[in-house]
Amino acid sequence: MGAMDGIRNIVILTGAGISAESGLRTFRAEDGLWEDHRVEDVATPQAFRRDPQLVQRFYDARRAGVRAARPNPAHAALARLDRAWPPGERGELLIVTQNIDDLHERAGAARVLHMHGEALSAWCTACDARHGWTDTLLDSPPCPACSARSLRPDIVWFGEMPYGMDRIFAALARADMFVSIGTSGAVYPAAGFVQQAKSHGARTLELNLERSQGSAWFDESRLGPASELVPEWVAEMIGG
Ligand code: APR
Repeated sequence: MGAMDGIRNIVILTGAGISAESGLRTFRAEDGLWEDHRVEDVATPQAFRRDPQLVQRFYDARRAGVRAARPNPAHAALARLDRAWPPGERGELLIVTQNIDDLHERAGAARVLHMHGEALSAWCTACDARHGWTDTLLDSPPCPACSARSLRPDIVWFGEMPYGMDRIFAALARADMFVSIGTSGAVYPAAGFVQQAKSHGARTLELNLERSQGSAWFDESRLGPASELVPEWVAEMIGG
């Protein structure tokens, strides 16, 4: 595939696989359990209503894990691409991540959209304010804005609407290239983005450790670790 010809607007979708080499567990590799709970049973509004402390403990553990992790060469390569692809000159670029870690940002990427929320953010269900949050939520701390003890993890749980969907669909409609990195294609709406992009004529590339559920939709699938595949692809796009 001619690396650069005619490509201006790029949408990149990342999943847990891009952070695996930073030591953050993916969801469907091992047994997907946490303290003998299935993630699907903890990351839900029902679980939060039923046992808020269990859910807060789960996200306290996620928050600590994210803070202990470091960006890997795949995050660094996407940050290089972000910097080398200035809006207007080269075109648009958007990193849509399903991940709740901040490794894209810590690697230096700016145009990042967390469609499933962020581990290091707390959401006040009383006043709707969101606050950067690195500590525990277990002791129901007061909201810095309204003092209500109504802070929850700022995470999109199963059954809730992902963030930024209008912006994502607008970007997919304009995309010349759609690249999916480290995702199993198991969860919608993210798993359907490749079809959206393709229907608007975008080239589609998958970079993943193994074939995903959506591999058949991609023009090209490269299999291997993100820390190798992503720097290689970015070098094709911007040279060096
Ligand atoms: N390099 C590249 N890909 C990798 C690597 C790696 N080092 N390690 C694992 N992978 C791939 C796996 O082969 C798998 O296809 O990353 C993918 C991870 O898939 P999942 O564990 O299903 O994670 P993800 O696709 O991000 O899950 C989507 O599901 O549980 C919900 O909200 C949660 O955002 C998550 C969503």
